[in-house]
Amino acid sequence: MDQFIIHGGQKLEGEISISGAKNSALPILCASLLNGTSNIIHNIPQLRDIQTIKKLLISLGCKWERDDKTVYLDSTNISTMQAPYDLVKTMRASVLVLGPLAARFGYARLSLPGGCAIGARPINLHLDALRKMGAEITLSSGYVEVKVKKLKGARIYLDIPTVTGTENIMMAAVLADGETVIENAAMEPEITDLANVLVKMGAKIKGQGTDSMIIKGVKTLRGFKHTVIPDRIEAGTFLIAGVITKGKVVLRNADPAQLYALIGKLRNAGANIKINKELITISANDKLRCVDIKTLPYPGFATDMQAQFMALMAVSDGLCVITETIFENRFMHVSELCRMGANIRIEGAHAIVTGVKKLSGAPVMATDLRASACLVLAGLVAEGETRIQRVYHIDRGYVRIEEKLRALGADIIRAKSAH
Ligand code: EPU
Repeated sequence: MDQFIIHGGQKLEGEISISGAKNSALPILCASLLNGTSNIIHNIPQLRDIQTIKKLLISLGCKWERDDKTVYLDSTNISTMQAPYDLVKTMRASVLVLGPLAARFGYARLSLPGGCAIGARPINLHLDALRKMGAEITLSSGYVEVKVKKLKGARIYLDIPTVTGTENIMMAAVLADGETVIENAAMEPEITDLANVLVKMGAKIKGQGTDSMIIKGVKTLRGFKHTVIPDRIEAGTFLIAGVITKGKVVLRNADPAQLYALIGKLRNAGANIKINKELITISANDKLRCVDIKTLPYPGFATDMQAQFMALMAVSDGLCVITETIFENRFMHVSELCRMGANIRIEGAHAIVTGVKKLSGAPVMATDLRASACLVLAGLVAEGETRIQRVYHIDRGYVRIEEKLRALGADIIRAKSAH
């Protein structure tokens, strides 16, 4: 197993290029199941989660070829509609095959994703919606089975604006008979990216990017070419890397429009941020101030940036409250940060952070993807050596993060660990 060894204290300086968004690429690759033809998708990041979805799509019968960041995906010959336990357990986003398979074949069988490090994460809203669209849903032996002759349009109100739930319903609705309305839909940029792909395939969608979408089912869909949007969470993580080390970092290929909540908070905390078309420059001369944040569905502050922002607050001046409203167990990084000298107390969904003068390097354990990113950021600014175990978590969602950080001047290496 790999670990990262970081010697903190270097100012990060220079320019880096942001990769394609993992959480856009995953649903778009699954959407290719809908049309039974060949598709070309550019700007696919080289990540472990992409490897997992590749395995799953190939196991269903898709043909997959890759040339650098471009994937050629052909879904003509699908031989099975089952997503096995081994793949679903390593990546919950495997659930995204449910909507397309049900829509095209009227059948899907998926190992039911269990809870994970950040929360219980049920898929009841995905299943309720498919049921409303006429599917019969059965659960047995740890699998969920979806059967339907032909999905039909329905009016669906989501109790929670679930991201992958909205995506599954959209993919189910584009081939359903009649009109589907999704109320309280998720509005993340990745949803809009998926909607743009579906429209390129010939789907009829109105209201994408808002909380109310209307989708009129069509009979068939054609092949598409698409370039995946930049990864706003990778971008946000590098903005914090720049500012936590009091350096100056320029992001290329990032979309500032997707980062307003974070940029606003970073500015409140005292960071200098300049936006020039697709270049975002961040710098900080002095220590930042603590500011409160509360995670919310987009356009609110992203839960996927909460842990990284907490690393920054841990070494800022003053006290702040970080409130997590999306997942019930997303403070796993707190105890590791405290082992590095942070002063953070958890009260239910709130973390009360009192900034400290310095963190000190320590051996720490990554527990999930974004928690690992938080520990890397803390390691960049800590005195001495930080060793982060289980970095396979970070490889799920960050493209060669250690190489990108090293290019900016960080002292970070990947090494084999004894564990
Ligand atoms: N929820 C339900 N029932 C459902 C679906 C969701 O109760 O049927 C609850 C969840 O338990 C959670 C909340 O609703 O408390 C929101 O979950 P959501 O369904 O929106 O999350 P997701 O679709 O499983 C996506 C991202 C996550 C990101 C969340 C929130 C992908 C592949 N994953 O997950 O990304 O944190 O939205 O923005 O798009 C990551 O990249 O590190 C990551 C975890």
